[in-house]
Amino acid sequence: MQTFTELSSLRKGLATWRERGATIAFVPTMGNLHAGHFSLIARARQLADHVVASVFVNPTQFGPNEDFDQYPRTPDEDAAGLAKAGCDALWLPSVDEMYPFGIEATVKVAVPGVTRLLDGAHRPGHFDGVATVVSRLFNQVQPDVAVFGRKDYQQLAVIRYMVTDMAFPVEIVGAPTFRADDGLALSSRNQYLDAAQRAKAPALYATLQTLARDVQDGRDIASAQAAGIAHLRSLGFEPDYLAVHDRTLGSANSNTDELVVLVAARLGKTRLIDNLEFSRFASSQNLQ
Ligand code: PAF
Repeated sequence: MQTFTELSSLRKGLATWRERGATIAFVPTMGNLHAGHFSLIARARQLADHVVASVFVNPTQFGPNEDFDQYPRTPDEDAAGLAKAGCDALWLPSVDEMYPFGIEATVKVAVPGVTRLLDGAHRPGHFDGVATVVSRLFNQVQPDVAVFGRKDYQQLAVIRYMVTDMAFPVEIVGAPTFRADDGLALSSRNQYLDAAQRAKAPALYATLQTLARDVQDGRDIASAQAAGIAHLRSLGFEPDYLAVHDRTLGSANSNTDELVVLVAARLGKTRLIDNLEFSRFASSQNLQ
């Protein structure tokens, strides 16, 4: 695997592939890679001739009181894991390389609509930071296809909106959430949990499954949401939201079949997110 830390060398390196007509799949990350990220690399390998991953802890998507400084950085392990997973190139830009005029003076990409609700409402500016960095990464790598985890469901919706609206020539693929055996979605932030919190954390996904079954059994959405929130609080979570939407994140009514329930909740100081896509009129057995 080749590692690039400067844009000029990345461009030269990728040009040699493109001149041969090879296609490129891209997996953007913030590093501290785990099995969930490696499953994205595996998906990317199915989609193109070469796979490029980026590792960049993006300052513009963290709020002033969030965990930018604390965010785990494990560059050597990341590089070794990517090479083992079959990644062909690692793009490892510095903050100066990513934001040549400085963070305050940078061109920002602001996505309307879908960024205003859920995590967007609780983390003001977060998705603008994501859209800003992902648009740059797309310009730098110029991939044919890019793979994002469905765990960050709203992020995926934001990226799809941006790509369509700004006519980026890249196909966006959403890959399934990778879960531990007990159901907890893998996340770099899980390591902030102490042992007791880690034991409790799978209840987040279990609550989504219960809500989905309740809605499939005919319970109305508002009452199922309220029950889910009360249940999480009773277990010691502090939910920011637990909300059912249609799959485009528009509001769901009593006839909407294709639904997604999304949750963000704190356990101690750790903020966890998760989601579950389900069909209201399908049988409960279809829920994993
Ligand atoms: O999902 C992430 O890890 C980040 O939000 C991303 C897409 C790499 C942008 O910094």
